[in-house]
Amino acid sequence: MITLKSEHDLEKMRVANRIVRDVLLLVADNVKVGVSTYHLDKLAREYIEKAGATPSFLNYHGYPASICTSIDDVVVHGIPSKKVYLEEGNIIGIDVGAYIHGFHGDGARTFIVGKTTPEKEKLVQVTKECFFMGIDGLKNGSRLGDIGGRVQAHAESHGYSVVRDLVGHGIGREMHEDPSVPNYGKIGRGIRLHSGMTIAIEPMINMGGYAVTTDQKDGWTVRTRDGSPSAHYENTVLITDEGVEILTL
Ligand code: MF3
Ligand code: CO
Repeated sequence: MITLKSEHDLEKMRVANRIVRDVLLLVADNVKVGVSTYHLDKLAREYIEKAGATPSFLNYHGYPASICTSIDDVVVHGIPSKKVYLEEGNIIGIDVGAYIHGFHGDGARTFIVGKTTPEKEKLVQVTKECFFMGIDGLKNGSRLGDIGGRVQAHAESHGYSVVRDLVGHGIGREMHEDPSVPNYGKIGRGIRLHSGMTIAIEPMINMGGYAVTTDQKDGWTVRTRDGSPSAHYENTVLITDEGVEILTL
């Protein structure tokens, strides 16, 4: 079921998403060679709790941490660990969710640790561009396929591929609400978007093929099948009469 948010709901959505944005900025300042992904998780959890919110991901279907830390060939849902230290040249996707006053916020960025290769740098840049292509011209009455169609066209124009097995989603009182928001598809197709809908748009772009596989041991970590690097960029956005309001920027 797709829920439309009232102005009252949106005030709370803005609070939740502002916390997510601030956590992403805090983590960005702490992404450095030698820092453990556990340390980043701890910083995020402490910030979220101090803000009076709860980490949306912690215990979600048993997920054991407050953020996801997804390095290089890990697409999403990498679990923070005391044993994993950031290394020069890594790219790391950080995904954050916060829940407060009955509503969730969700956002992700991919950061570069120190200096990386031009190839990985470009992947990170193009993935961010994919998000902005996806929301270009989006407003009340647009079609769901406008997002995926634009994201896919941009990614593929650079020789990259769009992950199919994971998608964006509606968000509000639940972290995952309808509709599913694929990063592939056809412009002009799919359901219409309406003012008051809040959706998390989150391109996951692979340098190689689009196939992914989930770690059998931890049940969470999603990697590219071919071992190629992958990047992730996500914002929660509100559809309005005139365009979109990005709640996590
Ligand atoms: N931000 C992720 C999403 O869009 C949520 C992480 S899943 C969790 O689906 F299980 F780790 F919480
Ligand atoms: Co999401």
